[in-house]
Amino acid sequence: MANILQPTEENLRDLRKFLLFGGLVGVPTETVYGLAANALDAEACANIFQAKERPTNDPLICHVAGVESLEDICYPNPLALRLAERFWPGPLTFVLPKKAKVPAIVTAGLDSVAVRCSAHPDFKRLVEQCDFPIAAPSANPFAYISPTTAQHVQAGLGSKISFILDGGPCAFGVESTIIDVRDESAPRILRYGALPAEEIEAEIGRSIDKPAATDADESVQHLAPGALPKHYSPRTPLALRGGISSEEIEKLGPENAALLLAKPSFATGKNVYWLSKSGRLDEIASQLYSKLREIDESGYSSIIAEEAPELGLGLAINDRLRRASFQ
Ligand code: TXA
Ligand code: MG
Repeated sequence: MANILQPTEENLRDLRKFLLFGGLVGVPTETVYGLAANALDAEACANIFQAKERPTNDPLICHVAGVESLEDICYPNPLALRLAERFWPGPLTFVLPKKAKVPAIVTAGLDSVAVRCSAHPDFKRLVEQCDFPIAAPSANPFAYISPTTAQHVQAGLGSKISFILDGGPCAFGVESTIIDVRDESAPRILRYGALPAEEIEAEIGRSIDKPAATDADESVQHLAPGALPKHYSPRTPLALRGGISSEEIEKLGPENAALLLAKPSFATGKNVYWLSKSGRLDEIASQLYSKLREIDESGYSSIIAEEAPELGLGLAINDRLRRASFQ
């Protein structure tokens, strides 16, 4: 099992060294926990793929300390700089042309790289101490539910890594929004995420190309190679439903199906789970993965989950639920 470390100065210093020499570390971000390695060390990055059992055609996201570090690994343009100034540190990832020093394994052989700057205070301190970029995909075994606590990382990858930095539960609970900004005249959202697309549109004053909610992603799969139809999945089969009526809830036997609702209903019973008290989308997002794990570990034969409203963070929540339901 991995050692779970608190974010003391001494531990951060040790972890920097461990990363520099090729180690893998579970790290907190404001979205989900990541599995970190020195992004300039091809062998260390190959170990990420091995630990996660992730296919090597699914590129990694690189983390940098701030806007001024973008040029270390890629060629930013004015649009990227403007959005980074506005939204970093925060849950927005840019796809930009990569510099030659980024190893091919990191980008799955693509000539672009995905780059972001995390707002998590402990991880940010670690990245700032490192004089190299940090590759960190989500710290889950490939295709399983992403981790939002150090304990989730321990449960999924603890036997394969030595250290996990404990930064508490993740504030957002869904991954970063990925935007391809290589063509400044046609930026394109590749993955809905914790930063609502509407906020980016408001910043640049026009609408942005986005994946359709229903296209379980054939349209962007060649652009964002890891955007697989089946992903973020519990082992228990999950069915996604728009609005679940009270009659339906009553008809469901309490034993077999777990119900995952956006907010409390009159239904009670130990098979009824709520993602938020208020129905607020940020609360729903922050609880989504941990509730899915809890249900997955409770022996139900199926999960019936309720869709969130299709706006703002709801697009990211529904995207994850749709992929979780893909058989
Ligand atoms: O919030 C997040 O983004 C988390 C935290 C840990 O930073 N990371 C994360 O990484 O979600 P991961 O590996 O689970 O998802 C990375 C996805 C890939 O599956 C792929 O779809 C996209 O980012 N991606 C990476 N590099 C790309 C590139 N060069 N072009 C297009 N898409 C890329
Ligand atoms: Mg992932």
